[in-house]
Amino acid sequence: MIFAANFKMHHTRESTINYLNRLEDIMKEAEYPFKVILFPPSTALQSSSDWVSIGVQNAYPSSEGAFTGEIGLTQLEEFGVDTILIGHSERRQILGESQELISKKFSFFSQKGFEIVYCIGEPLEIRQAGEEAVAEYLWEQFDGIDLDYERLIVAYEPIWAIGTGRSATPEDIASTHNQLRKRISRPLLYGGSVNPLNVKDICSISNVDGVLVGSASLEVEKFHSMMSAVAPALV
Ligand code: PGA
Repeated sequence: MIFAANFKMHHTRESTINYLNRLEDIMKEAEYPFKVILFPPSTALQSSSDWVSIGVQNAYPSSEGAFTGEIGLTQLEEFGVDTILIGHSERRQILGESQELISKKFSFFSQKGFEIVYCIGEPLEIRQAGEEAVAEYLWEQFDGIDLDYERLIVAYEPIWAIGTGRSATPEDIASTHNQLRKRISRPLLYGGSVNPLNVKDICSISNVDGVLVGSASLEVEKFHSMMSAVAPALV
């Protein structure tokens, strides 16, 4: 089971270090059977440890160069970071990332051997149009993406469920993950308003291999409570 925390544009370098120290203590003590990945803002990147992998929320598909405002492979190597989030709906929608750019990022960072948490998700009107429309929409977001890449993790995050407090229903999650499983053998995460109250049910759905958590990951004790809610079900 994978627990990934996406800080988005929250936390500073100092607060990330405090969070990480506490999280590592928790992981050492509790010996949870989870892989934990933390995506802090780029200004707060740290090196991974045996307990927590650190990933970057975004990077440019180049080692270095004239790309104002971006960071690339050279900057990530300084921290030993080799995990990246690609395709998040906030980057697709707010930052206007095209599928072409997203697939370039995927090619570049997969060639460099990165672990890639690749996000897909449909807007509300597509969900309302039914399961077939959802499937079609989601598969288009895999254009140019190698589904057999060995360090791929896919995160299904319906856009209407992100940051809204309105998670997808277990039925929606189950049917979408079952569809994805037909073509993807890599881990499948669910994301979108996962919180301490719904995480256990979500993690018990078949073909859900973990969660990608935004708001509910921002406080370390809350994130911990999510892991401790799921752990007993795994023993
Ligand atoms: P949320 O965000 O948990 O706040 O809904 C999830 C995400 O965007 O990864």
